[in-house]
Amino acid sequence: QIDEAEVVAFSVPSYACLRRTTLDNHNPVLTDALSLLAENAELSDEDGRGVAFRRAAAVLKALPEPVTGVTQLRGLPCLGGHSLRVIRDILENGASSEVEFTKQSERFKALKVLTDIFGVGAKTAERWIRDGIHSLHQLQESGQTLNRAQQAGLEHYDDLKQPVTKAEADAIGEIVEEAVVSVLPGAQITLIGGFRRGKLTGHDVDFLITHPEEGREVGLMPKVVSWLESQGFLLYQKTTRNSYLEAKDGPARPASNMDRFERCFSIFKLVTDEGPKPASGHRRWRAVRVDLVVSPISQFAFALLGWTGSKLFERELRRWAGHEKAMSLSSHALYDNKQGRYLKATSEEEIFTYLGLEYIPPSERNA
Ligand code: CTP
Ligand code: MN
Ligand code: MN
Ligand code: MN
Repeated sequence: QIDEAEVVAFSVPSYACLRRTTLDNHNPVLTDALSLLAENAELSDEDGRGVAFRRAAAVLKALPEPVTGVTQLRGLPCLGGHSLRVIRDILENGASSEVEFTKQSERFKALKVLTDIFGVGAKTAERWIRDGIHSLHQLQESGQTLNRAQQAGLEHYDDLKQPVTKAEADAIGEIVEEAVVSVLPGAQITLIGGFRRGKLTGHDVDFLITHPEEGREVGLMPKVVSWLESQGFLLYQKTTRNSYLEAKDGPARPASNMDRFERCFSIFKLVTDEGPKPASGHRRWRAVRVDLVVSPISQFAFALLGWTGSKLFERELRRWAGHEKAMSLSSHALYDNKQGRYLKATSEEEIFTYLGLEYIPPSERNA
């Protein structure tokens, strides 16, 4: 018999940036289910629903132990009727019919396969599906025009689907560091994204590059890219220029998570085996997605915080700043709307302090 007092009730703050979320997830079945529905919503241009499912999943990720019954969820934030129905289904029947139905649906499977191609977003996939394209094979046969990114994405599809390991991330880090200091001595690189949060694998590797002297970083990215290209490390790259101007752009636009740093989306050629020449048909390298971002030192703390993730943690930080503190946070700056000025920071800790938040280290930002 279950004593009422033995039913653990959890208490969790509603903003993910008020919670410590490690990688030690005690409810992976539930969070996988909700994440799948989030992904399906995002791929179907239903961002509001997507965020709702992401928030619900994140609340469960923050719980200290597995949920065994819906009564434990009473009073938890961010769990709407829809999410609760999915959770109850899984707890009571072992599976959610909606999740199982979605997983099996031709539309979802096609959206997944097509958007798994680097360079293909939901809109493009949607258009192709309307033209009857549901698989890579059908895409190749269709004669659709692919842009350069999509061609590279298709060519390296299998490699890019393979998770990147921390060891591979570190190996790429050494190469990027060599490139960076070769073209600008004193420049520094920092591993950001999921690996900075302590993840053991990722879908890509993200690096932030800066120089301790303001202004020295200007024009750095093309030089880094040329160095990497000349050494044969890049299978694909697209560099976008820095388009951020404090005076012109004004307070960081709160509703957007797109930043304007000089950045490079690339596909890296990582040599995986230095040993003897492999048998024919085998190769000794793999393709890895790598993102490079350059920030001036004055914006470094904001860039570091903005690019460490998780995506939901970032979204919640910006929501907290806007709704609770009347501030606008971006990867470039923090603007105080009441004081009408920018707040300078040289560390992530300072930014948390401005926001009235307890500091959460990267390993606990896995919301
Ligand atoms: N990001 C961003 N602007 C983009 C793309 C990403 O600011 N256009 C930020 C995200 O908010 C996130 C970080 O870059 O904080 C890393 O994004 P991404 O590599 O997509 O996710 P990871 O958390 O690193 O997860 P994964 O291991 O799957 O790569
Ligand atoms: Mn634990
Ligand atoms: Mn990443
Ligand atoms: Mn990335």
